Amino acid sequence: MNVNDSDWIFRMMKPLGYQATTVLEKADVILLNTCSIREKAEQKAFSFLGRLAALKKRKPGIVIGMGGCVAQQEGENVFRRVPHVDLVFGTHAIPRLPRMIERIIEKRCRIADVKMSQRIIEPEAIQLPVEAEQTPCQFVTIMRGCDNFCAYCVVPYVRGRETSRHPDDILKEIQMLVDGGVREVTLLGQNVNSYGKKEDLCSFSELLEKVNEISGLRRIRFTTSHPKDLSDELIDAFRHLDKLCHHFHLPVQSGSDRILKKMNRRYTKDQYIKKIEKLRAACPGIAITSDFIVGFPGETDDDFADTLALIEDVGFDGVFAFIYSDRPQAPARDFDSKVPLSIKKTRLQALLDFQAKITIHKNKALVGSNLAVLVEGESKKQTGAQGVENDLIQWSGRTSTNKIVNFTLKGDLNGLGESLVGNIVEVQIQKALSHSLWGTCQNLRAISPESKGEKSYAA
Ligand code: 5AD
Ligand code: SF4
Repeated sequence: MNVNDSDWIFRMMKPLGYQATTVLEKADVILLNTCSIREKAEQKAFSFLGRLAALKKRKPGIVIGMGGCVAQQEGENVFRRVPHVDLVFGTHAIPRLPRMIERIIEKRCRIADVKMSQRIIEPEAIQLPVEAEQTPCQFVTIMRGCDNFCAYCVVPYVRGRETSRHPDDILKEIQMLVDGGVREVTLLGQNVNSYGKKEDLCSFSELLEKVNEISGLRRIRFTTSHPKDLSDELIDAFRHLDKLCHHFHLPVQSGSDRILKKMNRRYTKDQYIKKIEKLRAACPGIAITSDFIVGFPGETDDDFADTLALIEDVGFDGVFAFIYSDRPQAPARDFDSKVPLSIKKTRLQALLDFQAKITIHKNKALVGSNLAVLVEGESKKQTGAQGVENDLIQWSGRTSTNKIVNFTLKGDLNGLGESLVGNIVEVQIQKALSHSLWGTCQNLRAISPESKGEKSYAA
């Protein structure tokens, strides 16, 4: 979500004459978009800002701003902690950003804007045509905030209540991105399954149907879903929406019913497993990924064993796992029986090692198969896979199931222009690595851009 917010900010600053730079010394405005989900992210944000002190001394004219969730949480406190910051803008203040920057430059004042509003105000600039995008894959926010109040989580306090964007605005933004070369969108929200419910707009599945109709768009992803709200209607969408990717990220957090209850997740391990079974019945081969927190207050060895048992039962394609950290306002910070850091670290490593074996096993099962890959760019690092000829470009993309595939091309581009980027090509998988697959593309029978989805590819 922060990546997407930063993108909004960039699109709003451009009409004012600003350009992006990766060189801090060249910047007139430095905006740090922060994350507060775990303690470490917050520490990183403050230490980055601290390092800007010398630059601000040399160039007092630059505007330094802190935005996002830490800014929302800390408000004017940021000025006390980091005196060279000029602007603090909360998660709902982005539409007001250009005006605030202009004022700071004019008046050399400081501004903190952490006002929250119930309605999503659409910055006009996000609906302006963009130049051809660098990447064919883009995030699109469909809702913000969260009403779930999981005991460990800061999101409801820093992003506010659930609020959905109007489908017309979402569709207009996606159409504009597609016109600029985007081929895949990931619809974003803290809990996409409750999209539109409060405002009585349309259901999330209905929104997916509308997005599926956009011609020129090839793939649709979404994140994140709460297991308790995953409806049969959404599961059914996997049967008939041809652009919907075969991947579901469904954070479970723990495999222990006792801990799930303390976390206020409002489902049991068995209910979670039943949802996965339904998803697999509707979409055989769908990749399932999840999030876990280790060392939640009161988590015992037995609770952790339940988590490993769940991982084995489900057979996830991949997981993200995090060490629990106390967050401001989140009730779990006042819970007893905090788990010592050394145990949390041991559990995290054990979980990751356990999952790594499952991931590699699943990846190995794909060796020899031909997979449709949406090409995102040239691959950044050499995979070191056997048989890679050094002078060949390595391309990188993802399968519908969200597996990263690096590959080389045998033959020329067959009229696909300068680049493969944005095309879906067939790659024969030759090697499974721990976080990616490697293969070659011998057949540039790319799916024609006119065809609607990937089913036509199989045909
Ligand atoms: N400590 C550790 N991990 C957390 N997450 C959310 N809050 C915390 C916290 N206080 C994790 C959850 C969530 C992911 C985005 O971050 O696993 O799904
Ligand atoms: Fe946080 Fe729970 Fe909301 Fe996810 S569903 S953002 S974990 S409160």
